[in-house]
Amino acid sequence: MNLGIVILAAGQGTRMKSSLPKVLHPLGGKPLLRHVIDTALALDAGEVVTVYGHGGEAVVEAIAEPRMRWALQEEQLGTGHAVMQAMPGLDGADRVLVLYGDVPLIRPATLRRLLDAAQPGTLGLLTAEAEDPTGYGRVVRDAEEQVQAIVEHKDATSDELRICEINTGILVVERPLLADALARLSNDNAQGEYYLTDLIAMAVEVGVPVVTVHPDAFSEVEGVNDRVQLARLERVFQHRKAEELMRNGVTLADPDRFDLRGRLSAGTDVTIDVNVLIEGEVRIGEGARIGANTVLRDCTIEPGAVILENCVIEKAVIGHGARVGPFSRIRPGTELADHTHVGNFVELKNARVSPGAKINHLSYVGDASIGERVNIGAGTITCNYDGANKHRTTIGDDAFIGSNTALVAPVEVGAGATIGAGSTISRDAPAGELSLTRPRQVTVPGWKRPKKKT
Ligand code: UD1
Ligand code: CA
Repeated sequence: MNLGIVILAAGQGTRMKSSLPKVLHPLGGKPLLRHVIDTALALDAGEVVTVYGHGGEAVVEAIAEPRMRWALQEEQLGTGHAVMQAMPGLDGADRVLVLYGDVPLIRPATLRRLLDAAQPGTLGLLTAEAEDPTGYGRVVRDAEEQVQAIVEHKDATSDELRICEINTGILVVERPLLADALARLSNDNAQGEYYLTDLIAMAVEVGVPVVTVHPDAFSEVEGVNDRVQLARLERVFQHRKAEELMRNGVTLADPDRFDLRGRLSAGTDVTIDVNVLIEGEVRIGEGARIGANTVLRDCTIEPGAVILENCVIEKAVIGHGARVGPFSRIRPGTELADHTHVGNFVELKNARVSPGAKINHLSYVGDASIGERVNIGAGTITCNYDGANKHRTTIGDDAFIGSNTALVAPVEVGAGATIGAGSTISRDAPAGELSLTRPRQVTVPGWKRPKKKT
């Protein structure tokens, strides 16, 4: 049976108190709606249609997904009305699965169970037992436990309000039955809305049995209405990710203090200390260690590398067995080769650092090529910017740069050269030689320190 999926995302999200449309608020670094779309696309559907309204084109542009279609619901007249807007896009579908743009953690596996359970001629409904069913639609069953209807909280009798089985809103229904029911919906209810949920009683009326399936965890069907719920689901999401990593051989010092906002591929025996933030596409090789309070953004950490505490590494590659930090900032375009050392208060930008080179303290190295086994002394600065353009610094193998050196680019230091501490190097320094710029030290004989007047 050809599956169509509709994602309802037109609601306003007033309780977020935000100028950003609710479904664009990020969870695990990606918009709520994007989670649902990714899940929908994982289900092998013929058509996916997202109904949007509030936030309008901003939502369409932010998501920019060519594998699905959009349907505009200009006025939010209810969930039934929202599904109506999607129907023209679902012409080719035999059955339709309804999902929600603000219910981000529903798992593909749960939806597959629902799709499997809903055999031809039935309607599949995802329901759950709620500890506190307040606000939800209740699932009304008859004496034989057969589902009869869904009653919205605001329309429920006091008996119905005691029911704890709630409607998650997620359902799968054959398209002809859905089309027929939508045409017959009325808004004669407490909220004056066209309720999609009236579909259930209509199905029962024409002899279509309702089969129910439950999610593994309630969090899968929880919606985000405000920022408190958003933060709670963020933790649930992070726990899922942390657990996946730990099961794959990664040690997390504390899964409660781990944040992944993107994709991480990690080898076995990777150790990640507390408060590490991982963003974008990150790879960490086998046995590498990431120190506390470090940010890794779109970078590759090769096997055996050690990142000490409090580093920020972005769009960079850290080689095998390299050691970085504490307090290093590695900016885009940097490649640290194997067994390099970068220490505290060092900033690197667009720098290629060859095997065995060391930049251990207080330096800025930008737009530079550093040869093998080079030692860069404390306080070395590449002056790469002349106020208009950026220029490169090249340092040959085995060179030694004395502390507090300014390298005024473009400039080249030859292989094996030595630069005296405190120099300002603005011309190329020849290979194998000592170059330095430094006023000679003078001693003033007999000089006396001034004394305090009495
Ligand atoms: C709905 C269900 C309720 C269920 C609950 C689960 C109905 C009538 N009720 O209630 O049985 O327990 O979800 O969370 O369906 N939306 C639109 N256009 C609209 C109205 C809503 O796109 O005109 C979207 C919203 O953006 C939201 C979703 O549909 O993502 C649900 O709407 P909401 O108003 O939150 O429904 P509930 O009253 O919570
Ligand atoms: Ca809701």
